[in-house]
Amino acid sequence: MSGPDRQRQDLIECATLARRIAPATCRVDPALGEACAWYHGFWPYLRLLEVVGSPYRHQGFFREALAPSIAGGNRGRVLVSGAVDYAMPALAIDIYREAGAALDLTVADICETPLALVRWYGARIGVSLATSAGDILDYAPGGVFDVILTHSFLAMFPPDRRRALLRRWRLLLRPGGVVVTISRLRPDSSEARIGFTPLEAENFIAAVGRAAQGGLLDLDAKALVAGARAYVERQRIWPVRTAAEIEALFQDSGFRLERLEENWTERAAAKGAASGPTAKGGAYAMIVAVRS
Ligand SMILES: C[S@@+](CC[C@H](N)C(=O)[O-])C[C@H]1O[C@@H](n2cnc3c(N)ncnc32)[C@H](O)[C@@H]1O
Repeated sequence: MSGPDRQRQDLIECATLARRIAPATCRVDPALGEACAWYHGFWPYLRLLEVVGSPYRHQGFFREALAPSIAGGNRGRVLVSGAVDYAMPALAIDIYREAGAALDLTVADICETPLALVRWYGARIGVSLATSAGDILDYAPGGVFDVILTHSFLAMFPPDRRRALLRRWRLLLRPGGVVVTISRLRPDSSEARIGFTPLEAENFIAAVGRAAQGGLLDLDAKALVAGARAYVERQRIWPVRTAAEIEALFQDSGFRLERLEENWTERAAAKGAASGPTAKGGAYAMIVAVRS
C-alpha cells in the first residue's frame, strides 16, 4: 500500500473506532452539560470529508521547527499538548523516525477519546507512547520535556487563562526546551468566545453535504449532514487575534520567541469566504518559543 493509501486507511479505521467509543469515553463538558462525542467521535469523518485541517497541512513548518531540537541530540522527550485525534502524534513519530532520532512521546488531553485513538495508532504501528488524561493546567508528570508540540491549542483557552497555560508549559519544559505550535489568527474578532456564524455554519454544512454524497463508511449522507449540524452548533473557541498578542503572551511568560511568522496565504486563497472555528482556511501564526 502506498503512503497516502495507508494514511487514508488509518483514518478510515480511526473514524469508525472514534464514533464507536466516543459516547462512552468522551468527557462531559461542563459548559455544554453533555459529552464531547459530537467532536471527538466525528472529527475523523470531517477529516475524511476534507472540511477540516490537520497538522499534516503544516508539516513543512513542524519539520523545520523540530530540526534544531532533533539535531541537538537530546532524548526526544516530546509532549503533545492536546490532540483531537492521532494526527499530531503521528506527525511527530514520522519526523523523528525519518531523522533516525529517539522519541519518547507523551500525549496529554482533557478527554480520554483522543488518547484511546492515539494508543490505538501507537499499537497499530508498533510505537510505544504514554498518554495522560486531564486538564493540561494541572498536568504534573514529575519530569520535563524537550519539546511541547500542539496545533491550534491556544484558542481552547480564554485570554485570561492563557498565561496559566504558558506557566504550565514552562514548568513542563527543561531550560532551552521549545514550544512548537500553530495558531489561527482572527484579527477581526473580539476577545469573546465564538462559534460558527449562521453563514459559516451554512457553508460548512453545505460543504459536508457536497463531500458526503453517497455516504462515508457506516454513515449515509443524511447522517453526515446531521453530524456536521451538531458540530457547528457546539464548536466554540476563544479567538487568538494577532501575532502581537502571541508575542506578548510568550515573552511575558518566560519564553524567547525564536520564530513568529504570519501566514496569510490560505486566507487569501479562500478569497474572504467565511470559515468557522476549526474549518479549513484562514491566517495562521507559526510559533517556535524557547523556554528561558
Ligand atoms: C489540539 S486542540 C485543536 C485540534 C485541532 N487542530 C482543531 O482544530 O480542532 C483540541 C484538543 O484540545 C483538548 N483540550 C481542550 N482543552 C484542554 C485542556 N484544558 N487540557 C487538555 N486538553 C484540552 C480537546 O479535548 C481537544 O482534543
